[in-house]
Amino acid sequence: MYESEIKALKKAGRFRERKLFDDSLDDLASNDYLGLSRSKKQFGKAVKLVKKYNTLSSKASMLVNGYHPIHKLFEETIAEYNGFEEGLVVGSGFLANMSLIEALVRKGDILFIDEEYHASGVMASQLLGDRVVTFSHNDVDDLSKKLLSYPAKRQVIAVEGVYSMSGELCKKEIFDLADETEALLIVDEAHSAGVIGAKLLGIFEYYHINITERHIKMGTLGKAYGSYGAYILASKNIISFLENRAKPIIYSTAPSVFDTALALVNLKHIQKNVKKYTKKILKRQAVVKKDIGVQCHSLILPIVMLNNESALSMQRRLISQGYLVGAIRQPTVNTPMLRVILNLSVSTKKLQDTLVFISHNTIQ
Ligand SMILES: Cc1ncc(COP(=O)(O)O)c(C=O)c1O
Repeated sequence: MYESEIKALKKAGRFRERKLFDDSLDDLASNDYLGLSRSKKQFGKAVKLVKKYNTLSSKASMLVNGYHPIHKLFEETIAEYNGFEEGLVVGSGFLANMSLIEALVRKGDILFIDEEYHASGVMASQLLGDRVVTFSHNDVDDLSKKLLSYPAKRQVIAVEGVYSMSGELCKKEIFDLADETEALLIVDEAHSAGVIGAKLLGIFEYYHINITERHIKMGTLGKAYGSYGAYILASKNIISFLENRAKPIIYSTAPSVFDTALALVNLKHIQKNVKKYTKKILKRQAVVKKDIGVQCHSLILPIVMLNNESALSMQRRLISQGYLVGAIRQPTVNTPMLRVILNLSVSTKKLQDTLVFISHNTIQ
């Protein structure tokens, strides 16, 4: 079964498989931006927090009796830090996007989604039939034209704070346009929360946006927050509507209590150590600027490769040097590339070695 499909994938250099990489490699591939995934201290704090309660796991949907005091505490804390009325924990970022897009874009509404939005949003938008308009990536003019051409009961815009493959920031003008046109704005902050902004809270903070009832922020706990799961921040009404209508929230077991606790202790830890982390982030961005002349505004450095095979080959060669980087190929991206994460747990010296190795061994 499926032999011919697998053969075709292999032939096109698009075959993928999950792999156990050597844990001793320096990790410049994952989204563990701040290096918290290896912190036994933070892990221990989360264990201590969960052990204070009689119930240690989720048991049921949050709409039955799976809603745990740790979920509530996490939601209140993250909403307060970010200046939103309410928070809602969700099983994963994938489910958060499915929830938002499928539930909020009602009859008579239209979703305007950036063409490079995450696969979870794209998949959810396929459930909307003709209520979806895709706009060119980060293109304010195209979005503006499309908002004019497709009037609707509610116009909903979906963008990412930092785009996951290119590391580019969503343009501030998109926030302004959403405001002017009174559209609802969904911002996926998977790669911006914990990475940008004066308190490392993400793009709303970075652009000093005044949060209104038309702003919705979602993010994952599986990246800078060093855990697993996700959250949605919005007005009380939107959160209440999602509790009533979003199927992945209603019909799925509540998010893991331990993972939520881990995200909570990590979130507090980041807030306490903002200065230290910001300094490390700026240092790595300065290394990239100095060594290869690229100004990174996030912790994602994309390096274009000739084709899928050369991306894989460079990844293999870097592994032999002790470094793991992402080899991102079609169809995930149009142009194959190495995705180098400026992970704060990897020293700047090692980052420099990696960049030198890539520039000496790449044929453009
Ligand atoms: C931009 C973006 N949104 C959503 C997700 C999905 O989040 P999660 O991994 O928590 O399902 C990811 C990747 O994982 C992502 O990169």
